[in-house]
Amino acid sequence: MRILLGVSGGIAAYKAVLLLRLLREQGHAVRVIPTRAALEFVGAPTFEALSGEPVSTEVFDDVPGVQHVALGQHADLVIVAPATADLMARAAAGLADDLLTTTLLAARCPVVLAPAMHTEMWDHPATRANVATLRGRGVHVIEPASGRLTGKDTGPGRLPDPEEIAREALSLVDPALVGPVGAQPVETPTSASSADGEHLDLAGRRVVVSAGGTREAIDPVRFIGNRSSGRQGVALAQAAAARGAVVTLVAANLAADVTDQVLSGPRPCSVVQVESTAELREAVRAAGAEADVVVMAAAVADFRPAATPDAKIKKVPGQGPAPIELVENPDILAELAHERLRADQVVVGFAAETGDATGSVLDHGRAKARRKGADLIAVNAVGSGRGFGTESNEVTILDGAGDVVGLASGTKREVADALWDAVAKLLP
Ligand code: CTP
Repeated sequence: MRILLGVSGGIAAYKAVLLLRLLREQGHAVRVIPTRAALEFVGAPTFEALSGEPVSTEVFDDVPGVQHVALGQHADLVIVAPATADLMARAAAGLADDLLTTTLLAARCPVVLAPAMHTEMWDHPATRANVATLRGRGVHVIEPASGRLTGKDTGPGRLPDPEEIAREALSLVDPALVGPVGAQPVETPTSASSADGEHLDLAGRRVVVSAGGTREAIDPVRFIGNRSSGRQGVALAQAAAARGAVVTLVAANLAADVTDQVLSGPRPCSVVQVESTAELREAVRAAGAEADVVVMAAAVADFRPAATPDAKIKKVPGQGPAPIELVENPDILAELAHERLRADQVVVGFAAETGDATGSVLDHGRAKARRKGADLIAVNAVGSGRGFGTESNEVTILDGAGDVVGLASGTKREVADALWDAVAKLLP
């Protein structure tokens, strides 16, 4: 695999040397792109000797080779370790003032940032906002480790161990490449299967999945919400990651156990947490701009209160409840399907239905498929303990015309895989 290793200027730059050696021992071709500040900590000859490749920091080096574009275009993976607060701010703003930031703009492969800084800098709202922006665009930002920092301070902000960074970054491209620490060189498999037999038919694809249910604030303490746990959406995100995709999960108010499952341990996908429909829409559209597939598995509130007072609404004794005026939310799925953020993007929706006097679950699903304009709609029956919060699911997969193209039932992971099988057939 061709890996670009960006190094920005912090004490932890010395760990980049260990990461470089580890990646080379695993058989990868690595080109190091340090920032000017990084070279204050580690000299270019060290990176050149260990990588066997030239090292430059400026866009004006090797102008005839147009390397500022070529490096990013030809990489399979970009890792920046350590990523300082300054580097992340420049990347979030889309600046291109040195070879590393220019390469980040040109890269179309998975990009992994491993931040390292003092806890105060990591916790600062500016850094939090930059991390959220980058994750929203599909960049995989690894959570820093907690522990001893450069001075006497301790806390979150430590660069994770090189082995951990390598494992998390490589798993985004191909889980088959992730071996135990110090593993023998592993060749990129020529067949599209991972070591555990999983099919890597989504390798290199960028995927956005929304999961959970949105909440619309009535006042600072109350909201209008729904029963979605996010289990099916999370299963979709995890299944896509296991099949090789680079996944952004836009998570709206997942059930507590589902949140734990997603946020504890190594993350197979970037996670953007949102609350309201407006936030979900913004996050899905930001990450969706670059995505091959967008799946709207979230239960989105159709309406929101027209106004949200800053103070809690009081009960006035003797007076009945004040009516809550609602206004319609945008239909995110229909927007994505009709606009197409990318010309060849596959857009997938869900239809949670109950049968009634006007038609069956499938009748309503068919009408929704035609109305929304998505490429695929997974229709499931909900209510009376079915669908919401359960461990299993049953869906009928329809195409945009409302014709049945598949059926899936079983665990939510099995349903997720069946849906990805249907999506994979639509990918160019
Ligand atoms: N959806 C959306 N934006 C909305 C409402 C729904 O993107 N404002 C998406 C959901 O994520 C799902 C699909 O549209 O993929 C269908 O959602 P559903 O709630 O079943 O349909 P609605 O459009 O809300 O229609 P209705 O509630 O009338 O059945």
